[in-house]
Amino acid sequence: MQQIWIQKAGAPEVLRLQDAPDPIPRSGEVRIRVEAAGVNFADVLGRLGIYSDAPPLPYVPGYEVSGKVDLIGQGVPDFREGEAVFALTRFGGYSNVVCVPYKQVFKRLDWMNAQDAAALPLTYLTAYMMLIVMGSLRAGEKVLVHGAAGGVGLAVLDLCRIIGVETFGTASPEKHDYLLSHGLNHAIDYRNRDYERVVMDLTGGRGVHLVLDPLGGVHWPKNYRLLMPSGRLVHFGASSLAPGKRRSWWALLRGMIMLPFYTPLKLMNDNKAVIGVNLGRMWEQADMMRPWMKQIVAWYDEALFRPKIDRTFSFADAAAAHHYLQDRQNIGKVLLLP
Ligand SMILES: NC(=O)c1ccc[n+]([C@@H]2O[C@H](COP(=O)([O-])OP(=O)(O)OC[C@H]3O[C@@H](n4cnc5c(N)ncnc54)[C@H](OP(=O)(O)O)[C@@H]3O)[C@@H](O)[C@H]2O)c1
Repeated sequence: MQQIWIQKAGAPEVLRLQDAPDPIPRSGEVRIRVEAAGVNFADVLGRLGIYSDAPPLPYVPGYEVSGKVDLIGQGVPDFREGEAVFALTRFGGYSNVVCVPYKQVFKRLDWMNAQDAAALPLTYLTAYMMLIVMGSLRAGEKVLVHGAAGGVGLAVLDLCRIIGVETFGTASPEKHDYLLSHGLNHAIDYRNRDYERVVMDLTGGRGVHLVLDPLGGVHWPKNYRLLMPSGRLVHFGASSLAPGKRRSWWALLRGMIMLPFYTPLKLMNDNKAVIGVNLGRMWEQADMMRPWMKQIVAWYDEALFRPKIDRTFSFADAAAAHHYLQDRQNIGKVLLLP
């Protein structure tokens, strides 16, 4: 098999393609011959050496794949060789062969292609967990999502359209036309304007019901302020701690200084809720996530959404895929093809 390793913390060029013997599935595992692997911002954080959940370096990153089952371990019910599937992989997804516990593997619909399938697991499950499971979003509410044109951002917009809510999204201005055509109600150019002012102006000073914050640092207090009473703030990332292609101790320190401290009394008196979501810590709860994925696949089946695949890169070009993401060029999902 071929795998892409993060050899050491650093610029995208630390990614290296290496050969290894094919793995043998253990009891309860399914082996998948990979057709597409998702690239996520967490892989960038891992490459920079600032991702606390990552295994020690060197390691093979990657959270999601699609492909065909080619070998089945003992005790695996309900899968057969040759079946088209997609899966959550807790690291190791940048590989053309992976072994995955069967509970993290999902069957593809006949009309679901490999690229769409590889784009579903991490982004749509994260969006589902934030909006529906923990954010208790209801039709008619107002939602602010940052990084609206990224993989998670577009998944959030898809689910918001299905639920029927008013969406506010920040993104670089050249992405606004696409976002508006994709159903975003209010596109905010955060690079040239203060998004807190813009959201407050657009909502008559009331704020929104739900804010999804993947930015962290200086954005933590701003996003809390944007909640109306009964509002919920979901922390799910800290991309502001990774402003460049090498680790920045200054950005990390600044982020730590800005860490908010929510006391129970403050939350009670403000009538606000603060929520944390980290899908990477849900792997042991695969049984809990399966019904969520079932609903996502049902919406796909009804053609209520299709993931937007922005660009694919070959395994040999993995470094270029990371540059592309960090240069903020993507609108939607970036995939690696073996
Ligand atoms: N907690 C979880 O379970 C979970 C799961 C998945 C993702 N996440 C988090 O969600 C965020 C989005 O992830 P993703 O995989 O969807 O990302 P993505 O597709 O790579 O989207 C990234 C977009 O975010 C914007 N951005 C903001 N700050 C950035 C920075 N410092 N460097 C590069 N781009 C930046 C850029 O858009 P503009 O040019 O429009 O600003 C960029 O195109 C990340 O913070 C990630 O860690 C969390």
